[in-house]
Amino acid sequence: MKKNQNKSRRKFLQTGLTLGALMPMLGNPFQSKAGKPQPNFSGDEEKALHPLKILILGGTSFLGPQQIAYALQRGHSISTFTRGKTIPAVQKTVFDDVEQLIGDRNNNHDALRGRKWDVAIDNSGNRLQWVKDAVALLKDNVDVYMYTSSTGVYYPYLGNDLKENTKPVLKTPEGITQVQKYEYDYGVMKANNEIEVMNGFGKDRSIIVRPTYMMGPGDQTDRFTYWPERIAMGGEILVPGKADDPVQYIDVRDVAAFMIRLAENKKAGTYNAAGPASATGMHAFIYGVHAAFNSKANFVMIPDYDFLTKHNILDPVPWIMPVGDNYGSARVNISHAVANGLAFTPLADSVRDIHQWWNSENVSDEKRAKLLGHDSLYKSEIAVIAEWKAKK
Ligand SMILES: NC(=O)c1ccc[n+]([C@@H]2O[C@H](COP(=O)([O-])OP(=O)(O)OC[C@H]3O[C@@H](n4cnc5c(N)ncnc54)[C@H](OP(=O)(O)O)[C@@H]3O)[C@@H](O)[C@H]2O)c1
Repeated sequence: MKKNQNKSRRKFLQTGLTLGALMPMLGNPFQSKAGKPQPNFSGDEEKALHPLKILILGGTSFLGPQQIAYALQRGHSISTFTRGKTIPAVQKTVFDDVEQLIGDRNNNHDALRGRKWDVAIDNSGNRLQWVKDAVALLKDNVDVYMYTSSTGVYYPYLGNDLKENTKPVLKTPEGITQVQKYEYDYGVMKANNEIEVMNGFGKDRSIIVRPTYMMGPGDQTDRFTYWPERIAMGGEILVPGKADDPVQYIDVRDVAAFMIRLAENKKAGTYNAAGPASATGMHAFIYGVHAAFNSKANFVMIPDYDFLTKHNILDPVPWIMPVGDNYGSARVNISHAVANGLAFTPLADSVRDIHQWWNSENVSDEKRAKLLGHDSLYKSEIAVIAEWKAKK
């Protein structure tokens, strides 16, 4: 995790492109297993009534493999469309049952021509032209277009309760800082892509899902994973923020299952996809992560925003200092999604699965070393904690 998450969020976007990087009201009664789809929806283990032919634009990085695992379990058939560069690091075996189409959203859509699908899920649509091209190509050959957007469309996050009908910014303003520009560019890109989908497919055939920060096995960013790994190590741990500073995050498998269920039920519309189920503060989150481990941890809570700002500790996700443009970043309303089936894996299950995956052969030693490496919060915490104690 980088101390300046705004930058690393941007970095993730670039990495995503180049690395190629229903109603569980009673909670999850099953034990989760790393990489397995979560049986969160009633009847998860059953086949869907009507098997769908699903095309995933993307599908091989973080969200895609979980969508595929869940969809296959429900009896659907899957085609993916990628450059063939990104090698899945989770759910590897499911790809034996996937039709893998090769092309490039920049300039080669041949593999998509003359084919029909019930649903297209656009995970890789991170450029306006890519979405324009895909919509034009698929609108007569695909019934429903599902676009993976982001709560980033709400930047600047000025509201207390950001609902789906909040008007997104559609153009990056002038005269802003570089950090603000990273955030605006991402939100503006996602918001314009949503409009492109709606215009092409119409509102009855478009499904837009806006996840907040996703976490879980296979996460290519070193964001959320910091907390399970740091807390598993134990010792004196710096925790930024006030006790009730809001945090939001979501297990990637919950997003995957939610999306497939929306597709099955052809639930057109726009949905925020954020957890946990009820408002949670930073301290409750930290204790929740710790509950998954036996480590001896001594948390040093630092609620002083000025002090944290001085040390450039602004946004170790899921905590983002809730001030200014980031005031509402973890205040996204989830009632529409929950009413339509979004369900949540218990935090302790997600955390255990992340820890198991992180310490498996699917993560390289080099990647592991980076998480707590030179520009991580871990490396500066001893000095920062010492200064904090001296100040007090
Ligand atoms: N991670 C988060 O916390 C978060 C939060 C909110 C929203 N999102 C959004 O969630 C979406 C899902 O991301 P993901 O990476 O997990 O999706 P994914 O579908 O698992 O992987 C991304 C795919 O894009 C493909 N791709 C990249 N460049 C391509 C190109 N030029 N032509 C064709 N395919 C290309 C990659 O394969 P190749 O490299 O082989 O081409 C890869 O399969 C993204 O739109 C992201 O913005 C993420």
